Amino acid sequence: MSDMRESLNGIREDFDKAMEMVKDSASAEQLRVSFLGKKGKLTSVLREMGGLSAEERPVIGKAANEVRTHMENKLADIAMKVKEEEKSHKLKREVIDVTIPSDIPGAGSRHPLNMAINEILDIFLGLGYSIAEGPEVELDKYNFELLRIPEGHPARDTQDTFYFNDKVLLRTQTSGMQIRIMEKQKPPLKVICPGKVYRSDALDATHSPVFHQIEGLVVDKGVTMGDLVGSLRLFAKKLFGEKTEIRLRPHHFPFTEPSVEVDLTCWSCGGRGCRVCKNEGWIEVLGAGMVHPEVLSNCGIDPEVYSGFAFGIGVERTAMGRYGIDDIRLLYENDVRFLEQFK
Ligand code: PHE
Repeated sequence: MSDMRESLNGIREDFDKAMEMVKDSASAEQLRVSFLGKKGKLTSVLREMGGLSAEERPVIGKAANEVRTHMENKLADIAMKVKEEEKSHKLKREVIDVTIPSDIPGAGSRHPLNMAINEILDIFLGLGYSIAEGPEVELDKYNFELLRIPEGHPARDTQDTFYFNDKVLLRTQTSGMQIRIMEKQKPPLKVICPGKVYRSDALDATHSPVFHQIEGLVVDKGVTMGDLVGSLRLFAKKLFGEKTEIRLRPHHFPFTEPSVEVDLTCWSCGGRGCRVCKNEGWIEVLGAGMVHPEVLSNCGIDPEVYSGFAFGIGVERTAMGRYGIDDIRLLYENDVRFLEQFK
């Protein structure tokens, strides 16, 4: 019996000594297993209790329980201490230094298409035009019908688009705005209409199924082709510099008569001929013409009294020329490395 008492005391001493070495929860757990676990030191002593007499057993049992309680308490204490230590360690490690300067998100920049639109609008605002905007989901009658492009007209083939039904489509041109404006307002009119247009064209370096136009419309008494030419010359010079000239080529649009396509002196070579203008010296930028008398009367304006001109500027073309962009797709990919160059 005194043997067992001795070994219990020894275990307790061993435990207390080992306890001093415990630094973290892993070593505390190791200690618990080696003393209190199934194969632990205390457990093996308790197994020997079978050999004790009936009088000895409760005495040793009590002593063994005391040792166990002692160890359990110590382990609980150390567990708490270690936990506290680990927590304060973690807090120290994760401390936030509020004095470190933060990452200030960089300011963005205007999109080159919007820059071009703004530049063009500014020019026309200076000439006394006002700005109007219309819907991209447009009625067939505004996009085609009242512009003298009835069903089956060949002009519809070159401007195929997405149809919601027979009467509603994604507009293929901003020219429908001519009708919308003339239906509501009477001359004198001087309006400029920027916006997105849609055509079922495949995307390549010079085409996109979504692009931008700026429509211009002037209606008054005595407006002539000379006024159109003068306005467009002024526009070209303001946007691309004094040396820029315009060239008119006869063309056909169902809603203007006469109609022209308008080229500008190549912005890359100044007219000498280069890769950009395919050695032409000129670059096509817009379509224009005198508003067809039938279009005027479609909107309740008397073509005997009033006349007008209209033009449609291709924004992408203009932006690409203005900022030296050689692939239209760059305008839609929103690659920050590209956009940042316009800051
Ligand atoms: N809407 C025509 C086009 O998309 C351009 C245009 C506008 C022509 C106004 C004449 C007058 O090609």
